[in-house]
Amino acid sequence: MADAPATAVSERADATLFSAFTLSATFWLLFATAVGLLLSFKFPYPDLATSPFLSFGRLRAIHTNGTFYGWASIALTGCVLYVAAKTSGTAIKGKAFAWLGLICYNIAAICGTVTLDLGINYGDQEYREWVWWVKLIFVAALALTGTSLVRTVAERVEREIYISNWYLIGGFVFTIIMSIIAFIPYYQYGMGQVAVQGYFMHNAVGMWFTFLALGITYYALPKLLNRPIYSYALGVLGFWTNMIFYPLIGAHHFEFTPLPWWFQTLAIVFSVGMLVPVWAGSGNFFLTWRGHWETVRRSYALPFLVVGVIYYFLGSTQGTFEALRSVQIILHFTNFVIGHSHLTMYGFITFIAWGGIYALLPQITKKAPSLIATGLHFWLAFIGVTIYVISLSIGGVLQGLDWAAGNPFIVSVEAADPYWVARAVGGTMMFLAHCIFAYNVYLMTVGRRPAGATRALSGSQGASV
Ligand code: HEM
Repeated sequence: MADAPATAVSERADATLFSAFTLSATFWLLFATAVGLLLSFKFPYPDLATSPFLSFGRLRAIHTNGTFYGWASIALTGCVLYVAAKTSGTAIKGKAFAWLGLICYNIAAICGTVTLDLGINYGDQEYREWVWWVKLIFVAALALTGTSLVRTVAERVEREIYISNWYLIGGFVFTIIMSIIAFIPYYQYGMGQVAVQGYFMHNAVGMWFTFLALGITYYALPKLLNRPIYSYALGVLGFWTNMIFYPLIGAHHFEFTPLPWWFQTLAIVFSVGMLVPVWAGSGNFFLTWRGHWETVRRSYALPFLVVGVIYYFLGSTQGTFEALRSVQIILHFTNFVIGHSHLTMYGFITFIAWGGIYALLPQITKKAPSLIATGLHFWLAFIGVTIYVISLSIGGVLQGLDWAAGNPFIVSVEAADPYWVARAVGGTMMFLAHCIFAYNVYLMTVGRRPAGATRALSGSQGASV
């Protein structure tokens, strides 16, 4: 990869842009997960906060859209633009587009939150409950930031396009196409709506967040370890097999529904096919850090990437088995699925976003986070999400078994209750971790540069960052 130095002026402008993306994303992380925390306490305490504006139905969509489009999309896009610039040996190009894109991301998230809380929504369209004009602003944000990304890569100094940029550009292009398809009015009714719903909800995770997170990891991991990626070919294999298998697996959310049986079967077969890109990608990362545990231990960014890759492997492999009809028949509609969502969107995507920010932001702002705060952030988030996932996995299986046995519904509620309390405890730890992360973001962006920070950051990547 190129990694040539940019001029001091363009570097300062890049630093301001990257900081602005990270600050916005951090605001949305705090807001949307405070909402998630309130939701998690509503399970064991259903009489908590009963006003319509704080009702479960409205807040759930605010939480999911806020974490998806406010937190993860903005955080990853900030890292993406930096990675594209570094791997192209240039500064971020089309910065005006990127700034405008950031404004659109925020306007969409604000309008989306307000309209959802007023009860104005497309309630039957999960992860796309925002009304059409709010979604349009979000798509504009994608197009604007995508333009900046493509321009940066197009003006690279080397002929080869580094593997990260395959994933990053692929993610942007596919997501814009997918968002347009999800807009077509013809597909908003009847079974077409169900098919497009599966297509959108799963590809938002698989072709947007996953592609961006993998692209960032392909840059940050070798950079921090100070060694090349184990295999470029495995990266390319992962890219193309992801492209082939992912787009058609969404219907596994609608097994045993009136969707054509062959279509459901195709989604299951392709879900099994997903083992190829997942194992190729995670295997490539495992082999890259093999024998370098000492560097991982001494770094404050690498542990986040390591957890992200391990949870990518576990969560996605779990997804393949979850798609099988024999497993779905018990787990469908249970809290096991919510555990799976947080294993992937939190354990994988959010940890990679944190790893990317800790690895890359201090490089350009020359301001380091607090070491103790980073350690606390890591352990609270890691233990918190692990409690969250394990408790809902057990609670979900118990629910499913009760339903399969034909027990009264209340029996399954009583069985899940202790696990909901455990989820709220894990969620509290996760939220505390986010407050600590916000403090670190402050230190890495607007805080004063601590004495010796530049020296520490200019040392061996793996050891210092
Ligand atoms: C403090 C941290 C968090 C807490 C306490 C929390 C809590 C919750 C709760 C209570 C629900 C509703 C579950 C239900 O309907 O039964 C939920 C849903 C969801 N959350 Fe979170 N969450 C947190 C962080 C996140 C983050 C960071 C993301 C993504 C980046 C995320 C993504 C989702 C998704 C995708 C769903 C929908 C799950 C599904 O239907 O399968 N959450 N969360």
